[in-house]
Amino acid sequence: MISDLWYKNAIIYCLSVGTYMDANGDGIGDFRGLDRRLDYLHGLGVTAIWLMPFQTSPHRDDGYDVSDYYSVDPRYGTLGDFVDFTHGAKQRGIRVLIDLVVNHTSDQHPWFKEARRDPDSKYRDWFVWSKKKPKNAKSGMVFPGVQKSTWTYDDHAKAYYFHRFYDFQPDLNTSHPEVQAEILKIMGFWIQLGVSGFRMDAVPFVIATKGPKVGKPEEQYDMLRAFREFLQWRQGDCIILAEANVLPDTDMEYFGDDGERMHMMFNFQVNQHLFYALASADTRPLTKAMIATKKRPATAQWGLFLRNHDELDLGRLTEEQRQTVFDAFGPDKGMQLYDRGIRRRLAPMLGGDRRRIELAYSLLFTLPGTPVMRYGDELGMGDDLSLKERDCARTPMQWSDEPHAGFTKHEKPTCPVISEGPYGFQHVNAAIQRRYPDSLLNWTERIIRMRKEVPEVGWGDFEVISTRNPAILVTRYDWRNNSVLFVHNFDAEPQEIAFAAGGEGAHGDVLVNLLGTEHSHAGADGKHRFVIEGYGYRWYRVGGLDYLLRRNDTG
Ligand code: GLC
Ligand code: CA
Repeated sequence: MISDLWYKNAIIYCLSVGTYMDANGDGIGDFRGLDRRLDYLHGLGVTAIWLMPFQTSPHRDDGYDVSDYYSVDPRYGTLGDFVDFTHGAKQRGIRVLIDLVVNHTSDQHPWFKEARRDPDSKYRDWFVWSKKKPKNAKSGMVFPGVQKSTWTYDDHAKAYYFHRFYDFQPDLNTSHPEVQAEILKIMGFWIQLGVSGFRMDAVPFVIATKGPKVGKPEEQYDMLRAFREFLQWRQGDCIILAEANVLPDTDMEYFGDDGERMHMMFNFQVNQHLFYALASADTRPLTKAMIATKKRPATAQWGLFLRNHDELDLGRLTEEQRQTVFDAFGPDKGMQLYDRGIRRRLAPMLGGDRRRIELAYSLLFTLPGTPVMRYGDELGMGDDLSLKERDCARTPMQWSDEPHAGFTKHEKPTCPVISEGPYGFQHVNAAIQRRYPDSLLNWTERIIRMRKEVPEVGWGDFEVISTRNPAILVTRYDWRNNSVLFVHNFDAEPQEIAFAAGGEGAHGDVLVNLLGTEHSHAGADGKHRFVIEGYGYRWYRVGGLDYLLRRNDTG
């Protein structure tokens, strides 16, 4: 049954253990600290945590440079602490997904060290080498402007090695059967310690052919099936959430025609066009993106997000659209990154405007897919643009107005807490927001609760209903003889709108407001007419509140 698939209707919360809570007072967050905050997460209503990399690492790319896949970095605790944490999460019904960073290792990984040192080592072939400098060494960089090339000369090996990302992240030769076997072993290891799956980093690069003679890399999609099968054999409810910023016409290659590949993918297409819609009040490109990414196997799911730990990548927009988003949300060069994106957090991008923040979140929770939130966004946390590249949006969680936001007892946390301006911890923190019923934190808790009671969004089918007003997005979801309908106004001004709820059955005449008291009754022509305030949003149940009595058990 589709409704067995937990990930299709989960609330995923992404966090980094190093910036969440520091229990031992050394200035770095750790698993014991995170464990103590599980009650907070449970209260917020999240059902799954996505943990950013925490394995042993030199930390030159915030842990995305792993030097031992089978360990917890000592700064975060021990494997024992990790298991305590996954156990605590399980007790509260929260699943744990972890990052799986296997496109590359750190250059400090023993495999790479061995590969450099000894041409006869079995690890030599685990990486990608070239005696001569490949012609395309200056192309294909993921971090343009910061990263200079994709091939770097190694004095020990006397050869060039390939790195899609920074030069300290040598690419694994993922076509090699031994490397593939090792990837499965890594997954198997963490499953055994209580995780329910993986956010797989850089998937298009993991499955690409690599080598000095590869001009245009080809994706080896069958690898995805092998990863999935292994997981499912070991533990039925384990999933892979793929990071793959690809064009809609290749989505089905990642999901597999029969849903035999990735369970979930982040919807980058919708993400970029959503920000364009927020910037321009024109929802047409967003609607197009939703329809272009509509097709997917019944068992597959989109991961929806607003901001994540990386830059807001706007590379898929037209130049003009991108400029519109830059002008609205990141006008200064210092707010932009890698010639294609914005590195700020959500709240400051939206000028701290509560109406717009609620609108954005309401969309996150009602677009087709499973919402993936970022820690601190439930408080409207800000960024510190004095920190380099993407670090500006990775500052410690703001718990209270005590020193260092209650994140640590240490005098000087490794990563500074935001302590100045309107987003400083003195003003923005969880303790204050708990006290006020109307705070963003309490609003988020309520919206998550309501999202759980509209499972149609995760499991159902959707339709975008036209109102002939580009500033308005109306979506309806149908599942098991029930429907829900959402209206969003992207414009700052109130809009008068008219639409028919559509769908099958004769229930569309009544829309019951789930968040307020203004219900809607259709006119004689079957159309709903009302005025929606600037940046307003409405969540409706179609028909009446007897929907659970009407629900059927199939579909
Ligand atoms: C992914 C991560 C990013 C990291 C990169 C290299 O894009 O999201 O943070 O730098 O992979 O692992
Ligand atoms: Ca610590």
